[in-house]
Amino acid sequence: MGLLLPGGRDVKILVMHGPNLGRLGEREPDVYGTVTLKEIDKRLKAVGRELKVEVESFQSDHEGELVGKINSAEGDYDAIIINAAAYTHTSVAIRDALAGCKLPAVEVHLSNIYGREEFRHHSLIAPVVTGMVAGFGPLSYELALRAVVAMAKGGK
Ligand code: DQA
Repeated sequence: MGLLLPGGRDVKILVMHGPNLGRLGEREPDVYGTVTLKEIDKRLKAVGRELKVEVESFQSDHEGELVGKINSAEGDYDAIIINAAAYTHTSVAIRDALAGCKLPAVEVHLSNIYGREEFRHHSLIAPVVTGMVAGFGPLSYELALRAVVAMAKGGK
């Protein structure tokens, strides 16, 4: 049996990947490594099984699709893990969607955005999420997953 909520439903975590992350493995491997998004999602599902929660992944290159997914997440999911990729630095729409969503959210980056070009130092979504994990490659996602599950279990 999974980790259950008071209503008897399994805890379900939504992992969101923004633009260009579908090309992980081929895209700038010196920056983002050689692990593909499929491999990251597979690993997150395995960690989900270990933690007894459901993990569902969603990737889109389109801002509106990401906004729509956040806006319809309440009721279906219990927390959001989001790597908004380039939209991190530009999207007021994704920030507003997260601000208006009651679910806890964790921002994730493969790279340490503060050690890179100056335009990456500012995250529009950082002020409206619970926390951020950046700089650990694919492990950033796994650490975020462990953190949101600990929170869902009642930690803060
Ligand atoms: C990224 C960092 C962003 O600045 C960049 O635009 C990405 C990936 C990361 O995971 O390190 O596409 O979010």
